[in-house]
Amino acid sequence: MLHKNPVPGPKARALLARDAKVISPSYPRDYPFVMSHGRGSEVWDVDGFRYIDCAAGIAVCATGHSHPDIVRAIQQQAEKFIHISSDYYHEGMVRVAEKLNDIAPFAENSRTFLTNSGTEAIEAALKLARYYTGRPYLIGFYGGFHGRTYGSVSLTGSKPIQHRGFGPLLNGVVKVPYADPYRPCLDFSAHDDTDAVRDYGDACVDYIERVVFKYDVPADEVAAVLVEPVLGEGGYVVPAPNFLPRLRDLCDRHGIVLIVDEVQSGMGRSGKWWAVEHSHIEPDIVCSAKGIASGVPFGAMIAREHLMTWKPGAHGNTYGGNPLACAAALETMRLIETGYMDNARKVGEHMLSKLRHMQERHPCIGHVRGLGLMIGVELVKDKATREPAHDLMEAVLRGAFERGLLLLGCGASVVRFAPPLNIPTTLADEALAIFEDAVREAEERA
Ligand SMILES: Cc1ncc(COP(=O)(O)O)c(C=O)c1O
Repeated sequence: MLHKNPVPGPKARALLARDAKVISPSYPRDYPFVMSHGRGSEVWDVDGFRYIDCAAGIAVCATGHSHPDIVRAIQQQAEKFIHISSDYYHEGMVRVAEKLNDIAPFAENSRTFLTNSGTEAIEAALKLARYYTGRPYLIGFYGGFHGRTYGSVSLTGSKPIQHRGFGPLLNGVVKVPYADPYRPCLDFSAHDDTDAVRDYGDACVDYIERVVFKYDVPADEVAAVLVEPVLGEGGYVVPAPNFLPRLRDLCDRHGIVLIVDEVQSGMGRSGKWWAVEHSHIEPDIVCSAKGIASGVPFGAMIAREHLMTWKPGAHGNTYGGNPLACAAALETMRLIETGYMDNARKVGEHMLSKLRHMQERHPCIGHVRGLGLMIGVELVKDKATREPAHDLMEAVLRGAFERGLLLLGCGASVVRFAPPLNIPTTLADEALAIFEDAVREAEERA
């Protein structure tokens, strides 16, 4: 049994009491971690307890906490100027867009619209897709999460609480099943008439074509399909292999814009710049945020050049392309490119393999999956029925927290591992030992 912290400690409790009086109660908070400071993949709370951070501020701190190169880049920029607004010009914006053009997951040149968050990048993509196609309808997925503003939340199909009391949502949105191979909700056969091998991805795209386009929405009135190449909040689900290629084909045949939401899965987290690259298809628009600037609020909507037909004044913002955020983003992308993306792939494979062994030892670990350092461990009441074990997941999160490990839940009962991309193997191993200890305790108490 590993050491347990008596958390929250007295200083943390005092801050929680003040927070409860003045902060909106709408924030979803898994457990009472009150941060003092951080370094790399380790953080300390206000009472001096140390934690390994496998949540990274919801997959944001790609380069770890307060990386000295990022701090230096922000400081140097702050001494020159902090803000000018995107109505003017500055080199940081251009350099970020040039870099994104280099790494965009399509051959065509790109143009970029810079934002302060993921949800704004999604809003920009939805608006551009409607503007470019002149079509009204948008297709999203059950399990998908895209943000909290009206457009992105309308395409979100994650939890009813995110919609309750906020209707009516955006018009023209249709949602369909995501190709979750562990929890398929559509029936499908493994072969078609020609005996070609099919997977659950085929079933989900066939559903759009044979049900949605037949009974509900004309295909030629659909502006965009918005999809996460790996589900984030929905459960760190890697879709069935045919899913994204079949979606690409569907969009090509019907003139639909394919938008990939890489807000959580992008920027090297999957071991490649973009998770969509694992499927060998080229999207039309990519939305990025979270890991792009190591924690400075920043996002980007990167579109194939020919889509950017909108005119001056059609879309803009005050803070997009903020100079501090641009400086942080450029340095973040340099660090990712020169080592951290490789580390994400290597440590990710190591963690996945250890978790798969752990799965054999524990009846509650139903499924282990992931790409790079985007790893989901689905907890179940029974491996045969796959019934989600939500309470057990909460007990594991809490047990890990008490032992000095920060984790987050997602989906119905999934524990996600999303540490900084530069986490060393030794810390990853320590994190896994703590996790297993928490799993063992939760199993004994269940
Ligand atoms: C896949 C995905 N898209 C969009 C968003 C929204 O990003 P933000 O919270 O920066 O608005 C999130 C946030 O968790 C996300 O995971």
